[in-house]
Amino acid sequence: MVQDRTGEVSEAEIAVHWQEEAYIRQPKTFVDQANLTDPAIFDRFSLDKFPDCFKEYADLLDWYKPWDVTLDTSNPPFWKWFKGGRINASYNCVDRHLAKYKNKTAIHFVPEPEHEAIQHITYQELFVRVNEVAALLRDFCGLNKGDRVTLHLPMVAELPITMLACARLGVIHSQVFSGFSGKATGDRVVDSESRVLITMDAYYRGGQLLDHKEKADIAFDEAMRDGVTLEKVLVWQRHPGRYSAKTALVEGRDFIVNDVLQLFRRRRVDPVEMLAEDPLFLMYTSGTTGKPKGCQHSTGGYLAYVAGTSKYIQDIHPEDVYWCMADIGWITGHSYIVYGPLALGASSVVFEGVPTYPDAGRPWRIAEELDVNIFHTSPTAIRALRRAGPDEPAKYHYHFKHMTTVGEPIEPAVWRWYHSAVGKGEAVVVDTWWQTENGGFLCSTVPAIHPMKPGSAGPGVPGIHPIIYDNDGNEIPPRSGRAGNICIQNPWPGIFQTIWKDPDRFVQTYYARYCKDPNSKDWRDWPYFANDGALQASDGYYRILGRIDDVINVSGHRLGTKEIESASLLVEEVSEAAVVPARDEIKGKTPDLYVSLKPGLKASDELRKRIEDSVVREIGAIARPRRVVIVPDMPKTRSGKIMRRVLAAISNNEDAGDISTLANPEVVAEIQQMKR
Ligand code: WTA
Repeated sequence: MVQDRTGEVSEAEIAVHWQEEAYIRQPKTFVDQANLTDPAIFDRFSLDKFPDCFKEYADLLDWYKPWDVTLDTSNPPFWKWFKGGRINASYNCVDRHLAKYKNKTAIHFVPEPEHEAIQHITYQELFVRVNEVAALLRDFCGLNKGDRVTLHLPMVAELPITMLACARLGVIHSQVFSGFSGKATGDRVVDSESRVLITMDAYYRGGQLLDHKEKADIAFDEAMRDGVTLEKVLVWQRHPGRYSAKTALVEGRDFIVNDVLQLFRRRRVDPVEMLAEDPLFLMYTSGTTGKPKGCQHSTGGYLAYVAGTSKYIQDIHPEDVYWCMADIGWITGHSYIVYGPLALGASSVVFEGVPTYPDAGRPWRIAEELDVNIFHTSPTAIRALRRAGPDEPAKYHYHFKHMTTVGEPIEPAVWRWYHSAVGKGEAVVVDTWWQTENGGFLCSTVPAIHPMKPGSAGPGVPGIHPIIYDNDGNEIPPRSGRAGNICIQNPWPGIFQTIWKDPDRFVQTYYARYCKDPNSKDWRDWPYFANDGALQASDGYYRILGRIDDVINVSGHRLGTKEIESASLLVEEVSEAAVVPARDEIKGKTPDLYVSLKPGLKASDELRKRIEDSVVREIGAIARPRRVVIVPDMPKTRSGKIMRRVLAAISNNEDAGDISTLANPEVVAEIQQMKR
């Protein structure tokens, strides 16, 4: 059993432990057309061929100047991949495809309202639009290489267009998930010291046209309070030519992108030649402490890694229609909606809406209309679609050759429905394990080589060499089925470079724990610690058990328990707060929030509501607790530590275990009684 260092509840402890499942073979039709069928790849990418093996991925890209050193390890663990190489990501995702594919769709934008036409944006049109936006960013906003901009855009074509325009200039984009609050956006503006915020007036979600611009106003004010004044707020119009938000524009600060773009028609911007190790973007993610971490990803290494894994694990060919239903506001969308598929010249679908709106047949109608043949989503979405419309996929004429599940463990029963109903038994399924920090996949079956096994991710992908350690740093014997902390022995090109402005935390969180020698310049001494529990079965497949730190994986999205606790502590009456993961049929996990009040204060529904509102305001609706339980006192150890393990057991209707060592064991029964 995996435990975190404090001995408190870990995700792994409460993870569902299912049985080993039988293999399922991939269809021959898939193997016959696959990009990667030769198991010799694992010899080419073995540890003794490291790091030069990754040339194979970098060669998928066009470089202005080839690199001098494949991997520079002179300052561990700040690795530099393809050092000396010069490249531009926007050029690789757009310009270089024009000769062959200018008339081919790059992005299919599917609006949520079904009466609104799907937009098919060709590579030529993408080229024109990316150039015009890049010209606007450079000449209207004065943005230069190395500047940061925060994007708070919904799932619309303007999001990848804006990202690629930034990449063209070497401007570092930091896209914040559109469901996050204005406050959360403002915090990220401050941390990244962004000069410009780019947003949209409104977008459709669940049948509503939501005012989104109002969040930009909150973000601006929050950032200013913390000492960062945005120079401009750029606002795209969801319906070009019409402003769809109720929130007024601030004179001299807010600009409608669609209007300003008129000044930049037909403008071309030469892509800036970037060093491979120049940052491409920041992606904020939750960690153990309250503050989200800005994961800094490189240009050359990152792009090489997402291109390689898109080709071999996603099996993307240029003629495929590829649909990843994640949000571009998360790393999955960056790597496997935008950069990976477009680097390969594929057609990538961007869907604005909720998968189950107006009904659970919607995704399958889209798949039929666009003739999607590669599909990628999360267990949460699969569970929701299965519950709302188990028989819907059969009603539509689409055929997937390949499907992905990502972001959280998937139960075998859900996996089987995905395979048989959604995939019609014709598609190969990959369960890909990785993290925001990693850039791309770490563990997965190679779809034409390994058989599928429901509930298990698979072996390390080519060039990734996992190892499992116990808490004392001893290696857990390979293939023993024993759980421990999964690490990766070697660096890889997609690994993030650092935490923005916090290199110490970067080293502490990911490398200090299992570093063999802090003075060593040999990468072999610096295993990457993923902060996940895992086991390796006798066949070499890894099963991921979940986080061992204070992170709750809600619908495949990482939320820091400390962030939610801090948000509730902003309510004056609250004295202490503890967040624990409660099992949820659809979302996998959901936060339960326990709070105690300052002396003399009474619980009320009004107070519970205010606490809940504070969490939504600070972080976003995604963090809304399932329940806010106001307890007379927190269960505590004699040294005064809150026993989250006991609260988690209560939330999940489990036996609270041995509570005799608590300072106040009587409170446990009281809290159990209170559960509404
Ligand atoms: C979890 C998402 C089981 C894991 C790409 C990891 C998974 C965290 C899987 C990262 C999977 C991701 N099976 N668990 N296939 N994929 N996870 O940063 O706990 O949003 O550490 O990146 O999700 O979440 P993140």
